[in-house]
Amino acid sequence: MRAQTLVKFGAPEKAFEIREHEIPTAGEGEVLVKVEGFGLNFADIMARKGLYQDCPPKPAVIGYDVVGEVAAIGAGVDHVSVGDRVSALTRFGGYAEYAITTKEAVAPIPKDMSLGVGLALATQYCTAYFCAEEMIQLHEGDHVLIHAAAGGVGTALVQWAKHRNCVIFGTASESKFEHIKKQGVHHPINYREKDFYSEIKAKIGERGLDVVFDAIGGKTFKKGWKLLGSGGRIVGFGASDLTGSKTPFGKLGTVLGFGLWHPVQLLTSSKSMLGVNMLRIADDRPASFQRVFRKVIEHTESGVFAPVASQEFAFEDLPKAHDFLESRKSIGKVSVRIY
Ligand SMILES: NC(=O)c1ccc[n+]([C@@H]2O[C@H](COP(=O)([O-])OP(=O)(O)OC[C@H]3O[C@@H](n4cnc5c(N)ncnc54)[C@H](OP(=O)(O)O)[C@@H]3O)[C@@H](O)[C@H]2O)c1
Repeated sequence: MRAQTLVKFGAPEKAFEIREHEIPTAGEGEVLVKVEGFGLNFADIMARKGLYQDCPPKPAVIGYDVVGEVAAIGAGVDHVSVGDRVSALTRFGGYAEYAITTKEAVAPIPKDMSLGVGLALATQYCTAYFCAEEMIQLHEGDHVLIHAAAGGVGTALVQWAKHRNCVIFGTASESKFEHIKKQGVHHPINYREKDFYSEIKAKIGERGLDVVFDAIGGKTFKKGWKLLGSGGRIVGFGASDLTGSKTPFGKLGTVLGFGLWHPVQLLTSSKSMLGVNMLRIADDRPASFQRVFRKVIEHTESGVFAPVASQEFAFEDLPKAHDFLESRKSIGKVSVRIY
């Protein structure tokens, strides 16, 4: 089978080569998917730049989510059959004509669901739902800050916070304001030109925020923490800021920017920090992942979640897809079609 293979860290056009690989075999509890298309996640940019510690050694086939047809199932798989159209979370291996994953990370989807929508469910919507509903419970009237609110995970978080009748602050590039307002953001902030801390502080004063969803990291995380009121919680689930720094010093700046913490600070301020890595959940708590995936599908069918498909690229144009995601132009899920 053909797979877009990461052979070199750096610019997308030099990083990937289409190479032949063996088609994997479905073992016990595994599902083999003939891939119709795969999704891009921000972590792919980090992996391509050599900034993602979980990435397998090169040459590597990366990719976290696929949509396609079940080609084979191993023993013990009974919720999908050969021929079903499915959305699946892969732990790498997604940028290929066939991908293998565990049964808990596969869910059937309708034949007429668009590729981009199906792809958004497995990683971005499961991450958002796990953060917002399993790690934290949002309540009516909560004041919530969502960074990169027009992105894949960001859009899902906005839709969930809207469902919970929260007051939503969302950061994004200004060109995306109309989109995020339509999704439910009450207070859009162009964090690239304005200091989101001062903007929010001016609006809410001492009240403080109830929840911050942060996947930017560095100083952005520290400022988010300072905006929380008593009982407030910040969920850290990424460090997009790392991709902006070109030097090791810049990267160190992001790491140190998070701040240094002692548990006593959490007790005395009555504020909490939570960390989420969905790969760890899928690997170590497969039943939790499956529960989350089912809920995501349920809420998509009921209309609470309405994933937004961004641009679709051809298999050979993967470098263009990477450039597009990194250029900050995307709204929702960027996808690559194989057939
Ligand atoms: N922990 C987990 O398990 C998990 C799972 C999925 C995703 N994540 C994390 O969640 C975040 C969002 O992921 P996603 O896949 O949904 O991506 P995404 O938000 O769709 O990523 C693209 C957007 O990120 C924003 N952005 C912020 N900093 C950026 C930077 N330095 N360079 C380029 N764009 C930047 C840009 O929007 P604006 O300019 O409009 O802000 C851009 O359009 C990422 O940090 C990702 O690593 C974590």
